[in-house]
Amino acid sequence: MLYKELDLPAIPNDIIPSKEEISNSTTDTIPKHTSFYQTFQVNPELHKWLKDYINLTDEYKAQFQFLTNHIPVHIDYGRTAVLNYLFETGSIDPVYTNFYSKDKNDLLDRTHKIEIPCYKWHVLKTNHLHDVSYIPGTRVALSIWASNINPWFVS
Ligand SMILES: [Fe+2]
Repeated sequence: MLYKELDLPAIPNDIIPSKEEISNSTTDTIPKHTSFYQTFQVNPELHKWLKDYINLTDEYKAQFQFLTNHIPVHIDYGRTAVLNYLFETGSIDPVYTNFYSKDKNDLLDRTHKIEIPCYKWHVLKTNHLHDVSYIPGTRVALSIWASNINPWFVS
């Protein structure tokens, strides 16, 4: 399974920083920022809420993510799956997360096209080739990875 929506509690509005507040917070340096990808540290209130309401039993990493333009086909570096939560898609038109396999001639073949909703926890398998379709604005998301994300793909 490459994508799965999870029945976890929604993040309360009063602990979600605005896009401006996120962009003023400390940047995360991993992974390296690009013209289409920026990451920022998560505020303490949200960290506390995640500990209290999301069953992340082990050490986890959480960061805000800004995505814009076209995210090329890639495999994530250093993580096999992420738990994500979108606040803004960055577009009035649908934005798609696509998964690909390679055919016998090594050409990319799109196998899945997913329109990820806002305010819904979901897991994505990021060690499988994927990209995101064109984002004219800024997609704002919370991205979490931890050693206990993978079991959610078993069912
Ligand atoms: Fe990715």
